[in-house]
Amino acid sequence: MTRTPLIAANWKMHKTVAEAVQTARGLLERLGGRAPDGRTVLICPPFTAIMAVREVLADTGILWGAQNMYPRPKGAFTGEISPPMLADLGCTHVIVGHSERRHIFGEGNQLINEKVRAAFEFGLVPILAVGEKLEHRQAGLEEAVVEEQLAKGLMGLSAEQVRRLVIAYEPVWAIGTGETASPDDAQAMHAFIRRWLSARYGEETAQEVIIQYGGSVKPNNVDDLMAQPDIDGALVGGASLDADQFARIVQFQAP
Ligand code: 13P
Repeated sequence: MTRTPLIAANWKMHKTVAEAVQTARGLLERLGGRAPDGRTVLICPPFTAIMAVREVLADTGILWGAQNMYPRPKGAFTGEISPPMLADLGCTHVIVGHSERRHIFGEGNQLINEKVRAAFEFGLVPILAVGEKLEHRQAGLEEAVVEEQLAKGLMGLSAEQVRRLVIAYEPVWAIGTGETASPDDAQAMHAFIRRWLSARYGEETAQEVIIQYGGSVKPNNVDDLMAQPDIDGALVGGASLDADQFARIVQFQAP
């Protein structure tokens, strides 16, 4: 089977509504008004700009999603946003378990698993972010760390759900640092993740899962990363804030 590459922008805590609209319009202009063929493009603005970005992107083929959510449909959870609220805005995807959620806000694998399950329950595709810290890699523990995040993050899911899941491998030491995993190192981890999925859910399911790479993806390294057989897309932070740079990343050259 062929996996359609998914290029996603994670704008993190950046952009007012006006700035978000300007960037989304700029991207659209550079792409000729539509998502290019052969790839899926997704923008995850801050919650406050989702509505405005949706108005710009409606009917262009470019999708919009969210960076986080709380895994309950509604209730007394001051300050939180629910999966049905995101679905109501036309969000298709939601990022869960981003390293900034894990390390700055102390989210653990159990909460992240609840988010993954809640996303499916309410018709959103979860993008489960996993990745090791530098100290883990230096100690040769990168696979063990990622394996634990996968095993706990995917607990209770059916093979049918896993097939529709997106995994983002984001080594923490490569996020926002300008330091990218080499295409070979990234490929090695992506292949490890796919082997792990295959052992648990079967080869057919594993072959369908989109595994994105994230961590200082830029116009000048995206082609080499995307040339790797198990790298099926990119989750882009810093470079996605700029319409020129993100448009170039979206238009990566497949070999
Ligand atoms: P950077 O592209 O800024 O390294 O961020 C990566 C990331 O965290 C995307 O979710």
